[in-house]
Amino acid sequence: MRHILITGGAGFIGSHVVRLFVNKYPDDEIINLDKLTYAGNLSNLSDLEGKPNYKFIKADISDYDAIRKIFETLKIDGVIHLAAESHVDRSITDPFSFAKTNVIGTLNLLQSAKDAWRENYEGKLFYHISTDEVYGALNFNESRFTEETRYDPHSPYSASKASSDHFVRAYHDTYGLPVVLSNCSNNYGPYQFPEKLIPLFINNIRYNKPLPVYGKGENVRDWLYVEDHARAIDLIFHRGRVGQTYNIGGGNEWKNIDLIKLLIKTTDRLLGREMGASEKLITFVTDRAGHDLRYAIDASKLRNELGWTPSLQFEEGIDQTVRWYLEHQEWLDSVTSGEYQNYYRRMYGE
Ligand code: NAD
Ligand code: TYD
Repeated sequence: MRHILITGGAGFIGSHVVRLFVNKYPDDEIINLDKLTYAGNLSNLSDLEGKPNYKFIKADISDYDAIRKIFETLKIDGVIHLAAESHVDRSITDPFSFAKTNVIGTLNLLQSAKDAWRENYEGKLFYHISTDEVYGALNFNESRFTEETRYDPHSPYSASKASSDHFVRAYHDTYGLPVVLSNCSNNYGPYQFPEKLIPLFINNIRYNKPLPVYGKGENVRDWLYVEDHARAIDLIFHRGRVGQTYNIGGGNEWKNIDLIKLLIKTTDRLLGREMGASEKLITFVTDRAGHDLRYAIDASKLRNELGWTPSLQFEEGIDQTVRWYLEHQEWLDSVTSGEYQNYYRRMYGE
């Protein structure tokens, strides 16, 4: 039995990766390690409780002693590292917690893996999940980010992720640690914390609350359905070449304002409202400081080497996503009220 440590498994993307791995690989033990910050919602994985190949550990990756102990006691073969502070707006007001978790936390995992594996790297892999935001911002006429694009992060969030990427590569180059990295574009889908654009706006439309559009809404993001990201992670973990980086993206660029109009159209239709009725909720607000203009990913390396392609058309994915949030209003309510934070105590009695 292989022991796979997934960090940040109670978060948005992590929960999809943990579910995929627990169900697809019954002979592997999947260990979900998460601090359960405000972004960690263990109830997202309630369907996995009691499965023999699933284990949850509450721990903070910035606690070196705790992480070392976990590597010493559990025979970890592979790491899929997703735990991070992930919201750009929070990084602007609290950059230190981004450095602590994203940089020091990653370093703690690398050092613990290196020491536990003692240069016997046969069958071992450290997979680091990163973001396209490390490449900086594109103009409208510039070509998409490739794996060779120079790093140029602008927000404390992207600077902390860039730094963690550099540490991962340094551990490969210096100590021979078997690593693989991927840098993905913006994800959307079920279980995303409603501080990010898509779930926040669906919830606000539902409750007729203002939709705060930063600046003129002209920034462009490249959106990918979260389960397509999870499938890419599965492929890269099992078949990616050691030492390599893979870009993951949907080839699906949307200007924020156009995406917001699509969300309004879809949500109004599903709520039985007059088409476009909620456009009056659009409220242009002060732009985000250092707001990157455009992200766009060239995922041809992943497509050519490992045969990955996104499975969903965006309009279809948005339709499914809006339906999911409207049908899971109790999930959104438990998150916005903070009730979700009681789940761990109820289940694990701590
Ligand atoms: P998220 O904020 O939803 O989840 C992060 C998880 O990490 C939470 O469960 C949280 O409790 C946990 N965590 C935070 N600090 C921790 C700590 N110190 N110790 C242990 N656990 C801790 O984030 P997400 O959107 O699921 O993103 C997951 C990863 O994917 C991140 O590394 C992020 O940079 C990367 N990524 C995200 C996107 C996106 O669009 N969401 C795109 C590309 C890459
Ligand atoms: P977000 O979901 O925070 O992801 P990221 O900053 O990592 O790309 O934001 C997506 C885009 O939407 C980004 O250009 C900022 C913009 N945005 C708004 O206009 N209003 C909002 O309330 C939020 C949360 C984001």
